[in-house]
Amino acid sequence: MCGIVGYIQTNKSLNSWKLVFEGLEYLEYRGYDSAGIAQIVNNRVEVTKAVGKLANLKRKIAKTPFSLSNAAIGHTRWATHGKPSIVNAHPHISSNGQVALVHNGIIENASRIHKTVLGGKKLQGGTDTEIVTEALAHILIKEKDLSKAMFKLVNILEGSWAFVAMDINDSSKIVCARHNSPLVIGLGENYNFVASDVIAFVNHTKNAVEIKQDQLAVITCEKVSVFDKHNQEINFTSQKYEILWDINQAQKGGYSSFMEKEIREQPSAVRNTIYGRRTNEGIIELDKLSFDKSYFAQINKITVIACGTAAHSGYVARFAIEHWCRIPVEVEYAHEFRYRDPIVDSKTLVVAISQSGETMDTLMAVRYAKEQGAKTLAIVNTLGSALDRQCDAVLYTYAGREIAVASTKAFLAQITACYLLGLYLAEIRGNLFIDEITTKLQELKTLPDKIAKILTHYEEICQFAKLQKRQKSVLFLGRHIGYPIALEGALKLKEIAYIHSEGFAAGELKHGPIAIIEPGQLVFVIVPPQNDRAGVHAKVISNIEEIASRGARVVAIAEQGDQTLPKGITKTFFRPKTPILFSAILDIIPLQIFACSLAGALNLDIDMPRNLAKSVTVE
Ligand code: AGP
Repeated sequence: MCGIVGYIQTNKSLNSWKLVFEGLEYLEYRGYDSAGIAQIVNNRVEVTKAVGKLANLKRKIAKTPFSLSNAAIGHTRWATHGKPSIVNAHPHISSNGQVALVHNGIIENASRIHKTVLGGKKLQGGTDTEIVTEALAHILIKEKDLSKAMFKLVNILEGSWAFVAMDINDSSKIVCARHNSPLVIGLGENYNFVASDVIAFVNHTKNAVEIKQDQLAVITCEKVSVFDKHNQEINFTSQKYEILWDINQAQKGGYSSFMEKEIREQPSAVRNTIYGRRTNEGIIELDKLSFDKSYFAQINKITVIACGTAAHSGYVARFAIEHWCRIPVEVEYAHEFRYRDPIVDSKTLVVAISQSGETMDTLMAVRYAKEQGAKTLAIVNTLGSALDRQCDAVLYTYAGREIAVASTKAFLAQITACYLLGLYLAEIRGNLFIDEITTKLQELKTLPDKIAKILTHYEEICQFAKLQKRQKSVLFLGRHIGYPIALEGALKLKEIAYIHSEGFAAGELKHGPIAIIEPGQLVFVIVPPQNDRAGVHAKVISNIEEIASRGARVVAIAEQGDQTLPKGITKTFFRPKTPILFSAILDIIPLQIFACSLAGALNLDIDMPRNLAKSVTVE
């Protein structure tokens, strides 16, 4: 999704564009299809844009170098309105050459603004951002001052925006405005940054301040002024942001893809998310908590909101949290949550799960929940992200930077963090004694080694996947805690191998889906532990017999030593023995490896699959 970087400094004889370019490189993980940089030199705007990767932009800048300047703004665009093209790439320059602007978000009343403010004037590309740029330049003619013009503009807009703009006649300042789409200001000595994400400038300054909802900011090289929605200047306090991952982690480390590297990093992702949680008194701590923990004893419902893989981790977590805490846990897709008039109040704990912490659907759902009086808790992998800043409490996943669009290690870390949250709540609410919690934590701590044991079969799973290149459809069946894993296995294959895949609750098969089983159909089945008290093992075995008798090629994910598997199964991948509530963390790994290996065998771009972005920062 779109990334924004702005930079301003005292010295006019420096390459400001280079600092912006470097920041855009750190934002590449958001996914994009065009990029550009603009700067103002002697009341003249210089702009270079390119379609495709930043390397294309760098080549164009080398051909037409920027002059030395004290300020520049840049953007990576993921097309929402209008195709990826130079015309539609940002920064947009107004037709009167007065204003340069970059934008992250969607302006929902852009066509009305085009008619009412611009009188329907002819546009080049017709994107919402082009309309907004022209409208800002139009208002600036009368207002004379860019920040006043920006204030007037944002008060007639609907939708979501993070704007960063410059006035060709005044390169001493950068003007910003935020509504929903995040913006953070990096505070330096005689220089300042503004960006969509702290990671764009954290190498230069860790001292930052978030532009909050409906605030505006005027940034010069010496001063940052922040204004509220009434355009009244307000005081602000900055805070130190740390990026935990080591930047050179973003190398493939000799693996075929970031996704393979990240699958193999899962033991440490789980281990790092667990360790250091328990204080000396044996109490699990959250990373941030802005209210008294006794509040958790009063809640009567937990609502988990997330998207995609993050939502699947919530579905897994529900089993553990309900079992340990005896409190109802509902899991909702964030993009559905706020439109269904949900029952949310001060006794609801809303848990938002997100790897990037920038998913707009999730951010908007959290905003809605807070408006309804709920306390919000983020389970997030990206420190300093919008979700991190937005929620009342935070439990970080320490999976390290996840580059591949297909989430793997963050998924396991999310489930782990949810288990920790469940134990934390069970302790506060008195559902479990300290010794019971200690026992469960000890079981959790055995998982990294069990994950590592499954990874020793990586090559075997990879070879099996390579034989499935002609598969046009793959089904995944699971029951109980295996059902969300079936959903996640299907999503992995869909998103990186572009093969139609579907996850089913195994018990649902006979209510319809079994009709699509025909000879040769590849079906993965997640088999629960034999000694589970949920009593689902025997039912899953009969599900296998139902589909095998209709010619399906069954691949079982089962527990080491399970002798009850029916004959005639095509392939079985075993997992080390573990309690049913923790088995989900192990069962997903062969499915991740299968998807990654099959996509590789099909010569697809595993890390940046078509149509997808690592962080979906628009609704
Ligand atoms: C997962 O492989 C996908 N990339 C996608 O479903 C992702 O999980 C979803 O967009 C949520 O992203 P987040 O965790 O950053 O909020």
